[in-house]
Amino acid sequence: MRTCPWKCVVLLLAAVFTLSALIYGHYDLDFIYSDGRVIQQRLLTVTDSSLPLYKESGEATTAPPEDERVTPCTLRQTVQRDPLLQQRFNFSVPVLQWPGHSSIGEWQRLQLRPPPYGWKGLPWDVVNSTLALLSDPRSGRLFERVGPRPCVRCAVVGNGGILRGSGQGGAIDAHHYVFRVNGAVTKGFEEDVGTKTSFYGFTTNTMKNSLISYRTAGFLRVPQGQGIRYIFIPSDMRDYRMLAAAIRGAPVTSGEDRGDLPSTYFGQNPSVHQFKLLHPDFITYVKDRFLKSPLLRMMYGHLYMPSTGALMLMTALHSCDQVSAYGFITDNYKDFSDHYFDMVKKPLVFYANHDMQMESRLWEQLHTRKVLWLYKRPSEE
Ligand SMILES: *[C@@H]1O[C@H](CO)[C@@H](O)[C@H](O)[C@H]1NC(C)=O
Ligand SMILES: *[C@@H]1O[C@H](CO)[C@@H](O)[C@H](O)[C@H]1NC(C)=O
Repeated sequence: MRTCPWKCVVLLLAAVFTLSALIYGHYDLDFIYSDGRVIQQRLLTVTDSSLPLYKESGEATTAPPEDERVTPCTLRQTVQRDPLLQQRFNFSVPVLQWPGHSSIGEWQRLQLRPPPYGWKGLPWDVVNSTLALLSDPRSGRLFERVGPRPCVRCAVVGNGGILRGSGQGGAIDAHHYVFRVNGAVTKGFEEDVGTKTSFYGFTTNTMKNSLISYRTAGFLRVPQGQGIRYIFIPSDMRDYRMLAAAIRGAPVTSGEDRGDLPSTYFGQNPSVHQFKLLHPDFITYVKDRFLKSPLLRMMYGHLYMPSTGALMLMTALHSCDQVSAYGFITDNYKDFSDHYFDMVKKPLVFYANHDMQMESRLWEQLHTRKVLWLYKRPSEE
C-alpha cells in the first residue's frame, strides 16, 4: 500500500485544523438573562451572518507602536477591495431619518417591524410630526463636508473599563469628531477619555438610566453646548416624543416621560440641526449584516438589539473616512472593570438584550481588516 507523501500529510493536517477552527471558533456563548438566570449555551451552529474565522483569543494585546495606531484614511476603499467586507457593507443605506422619509409608502413598509427596526405600534401622526420637525437639511447628515477635507477622522468612545488609566485622552481629542454614549463622564477622566464631545448617542431609556445609575460616578448631565449633536436611537415611541419635545422646546406631553423638560437634558435653546435620529433601516441593516445574534432566536429575542456603542461605531463607519474605537470590548475584557468610571472594579455582565461577545469578535475582525483601529491594552496584573 502506498504511504501518504509529505505533501498529502500537510494537506490533511490543514483540513483538520480548518474544520476544528470552524467548529470551535463558534462554540461557546455564555450569558445571563435579564432576570438573572445564568445560562450556559453551547452552540454548535455557526450563526449565518457572523464573519468567518474570528480570532477567539491568544492575540497579543500590546498596543501597537504609534505609527500603526491608525488605519489608512480610505475606509470605503478598504471595504471595496475586500470581497468579504463588500458583502456586508452597504453605504447606500440611509443612516439618519429626515422629513422625506415620512410618506405613506414608507409607513406601509416600516410599520411591519417594531422599533428599533421599524415603526410598528407607533401612531402615524407621532412619526410624521416628529420627522417634519427635522426640517433643517443638516438634520439628515451627521456633519457637513465643507471644502476638500480629504480625511474625516472620528473617534468613537465606548465606556469600557479598559480606558481607566489608559492616558488616551489626547489621542481621542485629536480626532475631528468624537462620539460618546450613555454615561459618558469626562470630568475627572480627561487624561484617559479626553474632553471633546461632538456626538452623543443614546435612547431616551439609556440616557435617563445613565443619569440615575452613574450619578455617583459623576455623570450629572448629558453633554451640552452648541458644538454637540444628539443622535437618538429610535428604540421606542418615547424617543420620537422626546425628540419632538426637544426640538419644540416644550415639555413631553404624553407617555412615560410626560412632563420632562428637554432643557434638563439638552440645555437651553438647542438648534434643530443638533438633533439627529437613526433610521430604522440602518439599525435593521446593522443587525442583519453584522450582528445577527443567536439571542434573536431565544426566549428574550424580542429584547435584543445592537448595543448603543455598537450602533454609534457603525454610524461612524458609515460616515467618516477613518475610525478609531476606544473603550470597546476586547478579548481580555475580564481583566477590566465594566466601565472606566466605576469606583470599584465590577465585572462586565452579559444580558440577553445585547450580544457583547459577538460585538467583540466583530470589532476584532474589522480591526484585523483595517476598517477601524481598536484600542487594546495588555491585561493588568
Ligand atoms: C443597499 O442599500 C440600498 C438602500 O437600502 C438598496 O436599495 C440596495 O439594494 C442595497 N444594495 C445591496 C447590494 O444590498
Ligand atoms: C405630515 O406632517 C406634515 C407637517 O405637520 C403635514 O403637512 C402633512 O400633511 C402630514 N402628512 C400626512 C400624510 O399626514
